[in-house]
Amino acid sequence: MELNRRSFLAGGTLFAAGALAGGAQAEASAPRKVSPYHARGEETFTPKPVARGVRRVVAEPVLQCPAPDSMGVAWAVSGFANGAVEFADNPQLQNATTVRCGGFGMTAFDDQALQVRLVGLRPGTRYWYRTITTPIADYKNSYSIRMGEPEVGDVHSFVTPGENVTARFCVMNDTHENWKQFGPIVEKILAIKPTVIVWNGDATNTTEEKARAVETFLNPPVARKDYAADIPILFTNGNHDYRGKWIRHLDEVMMPRLPSERSSRDWDLTRNFAIRLGDVAMVGLDTGEDKPDWHPKWMGMANFSPYRKAQTVWLKETLARPEIDGAPYIVVFCHIPLFDSYPEANPGDRLENWADWQKECADLWGPLFAEHGVQVVIAAHMHRYRFDPATADRPWAQIVGGGPGKNPWNFPTVIEGEIVGGELRLTCHNVLTGKVAGRHAFKPRFRFLGLA
Ligand SMILES: [Fe+2]
Ligand SMILES: [Fe+2]
Repeated sequence: MELNRRSFLAGGTLFAAGALAGGAQAEASAPRKVSPYHARGEETFTPKPVARGVRRVVAEPVLQCPAPDSMGVAWAVSGFANGAVEFADNPQLQNATTVRCGGFGMTAFDDQALQVRLVGLRPGTRYWYRTITTPIADYKNSYSIRMGEPEVGDVHSFVTPGENVTARFCVMNDTHENWKQFGPIVEKILAIKPTVIVWNGDATNTTEEKARAVETFLNPPVARKDYAADIPILFTNGNHDYRGKWIRHLDEVMMPRLPSERSSRDWDLTRNFAIRLGDVAMVGLDTGEDKPDWHPKWMGMANFSPYRKAQTVWLKETLARPEIDGAPYIVVFCHIPLFDSYPEANPGDRLENWADWQKECADLWGPLFAEHGVQVVIAAHMHRYRFDPATADRPWAQIVGGGPGKNPWNFPTVIEGEIVGGELRLTCHNVLTGKVAGRHAFKPRFRFLGLA
């Protein structure tokens, strides 16, 4: 690793990494060119850095959109930069593949966030990676650019989802840019060391400019800016994550799921996920805004009802996929609850200011959950932890995570999921008090109990 780092600095730019990965070491052991975006050193120009001392990196990278064969990496920068990610299946980054920011063609030129998608990965495999950030120190026009010295990030690692990995996940929700609570939440998650984090919506409040989203997701003002450098985030939108004019561009900070994860019919469903984490199938759904599309507040711009129906078609097929149907446990994640013990409590089809639950989603998705033996839905939105046990009519349970308050009913939570003694155990940690707010255990799905 040190050799790589020194070589890198001596070479001067990120392109040296591509040369290193594909050049000298290739003679001994040919690198596995797993990515169509990889930099081929022999075909790239290596500019000399003419602006020294220019720094751009302000936080550790944030892993996102984990899939069996791909991983997203995004990181915040403080000024215009280009960059890349080097990754390999060993901590020394030997035979590393270099993937350029911004994909094909002219690569990234951004002053707030850089993104790289690693593809061609193997399921259930640990990879090591680091970011390379090259400042664009001065830009006059396309033919007059001065580059700075590349900044080489620390080496981090992650595990791709798969049926063989440890089924441990953590859920945080309704963090609402409350940094005093976000700090302890991520400390708790880092202590648990899950394989993935589910950020179950309402990460934001109202987002009118990109800088706000970059702070929220990539550079939160907390001590552990590495909160997702080694543990990838599965993000489900909350209703607040649809608020503000800039939020329509959230993909520039929180990457969409790769189109290759689903059929072309569903390419627009960029937030839905379905992955295996050991014995657990994790399915992410987007409940959208909390008021109906015809609500006067949306001024005719909301279009969530067709979105919910489109997700239903995807869900029906997804739950029948062999790796999902073959899982002993299926857990669904969505922001707005799909059940409320008082059904008249603002079910989202009236003119109240908000909805306690999402009736349209419950009507569309609930029967599919029952048919396929989904054990539990983990929701959020209410800012109040609660557990709704399964019933004869609704054979799936529901856990609702806490909120950003500081009192006995509204407190921040981390919901920990793991397999213990042949059961799925969900533990709700009260991050405010450090105590356990509740524990819930689930048997394997019916077919794994020999009942079907
Ligand atoms: Fe919320
Ligand atoms: Fe919400």
